[in-house]
Amino acid sequence: MKMKNILAPSILAADLMNLEGEIRRIEAGGAAYVHFDVMDGSFVPAISFGMPLLQLLRKATGLKIDAHLMIVKPDRYIEEFAELGADIITVHYEACDDPVSVIKMIHKCGKKAGIALKPATAVSEIRNLLPELDMVLPMTVEPGFGGQHVLTECLKKVRQLKDMIDEKGLYCDVEVDGGITKENIVSIKEYGANVIVAGSAVFRGDAEANTRELIGLMAD
Ligand code: DX5
Ligand code: ZN
Repeated sequence: MKMKNILAPSILAADLMNLEGEIRRIEAGGAAYVHFDVMDGSFVPAISFGMPLLQLLRKATGLKIDAHLMIVKPDRYIEEFAELGADIITVHYEACDDPVSVIKMIHKCGKKAGIALKPATAVSEIRNLLPELDMVLPMTVEPGFGGQHVLTECLKKVRQLKDMIDEKGLYCDVEVDGGITKENIVSIKEYGANVIVAGSAVFRGDAEANTRELIGLMAD
């Protein structure tokens, strides 16, 4: 199935002291999503930001908030993230005791549900979950930090997932996250991704121009 191409700028790389200005710049560049990386210092080594910033972001923008939860046992916080205004909630397969119940919980809150996979997790692990999902996120770097390089061995997972989704005739976005640049975005999209996260590639330099350029490069 043909899915819409969407750029999701990750504010992990933004100037958080001037977040409102950064959001205005990506809006002006034509972004439809904003990617919100939550790191707990346990599932991944780093700690990023959480509820207070999400609340501010929700007040500041009408962009769809694409929350990527890199936290252990995310079921503890789904309702709160939903109430604070996340539109899409993606949890890590490796972090859930019972992924099916977490997906149900996200849907019960009226939000779109995604499952993310670390580089070492095989796509076969989540094959049976695909019919329940709105989005799948095979990470293209080890989660935890911005500004890394794409691990090329992860790209075949993007293709495998897209093929599984199409074979089953499902309507499910394939998101990629980590190391996406102006130089590689076109080839990565060709693996089957239609939602592309970019942190450094958007916020280093002129965020409005970068957003516009990356969206242009994603066009079919
Ligand atoms: C990494 C995060 C990414 C990160 C991407 O764990 O999930 O969303 O912000 O940053 P770049 O695009 O700089 O690799
Ligand atoms: Zn992310």
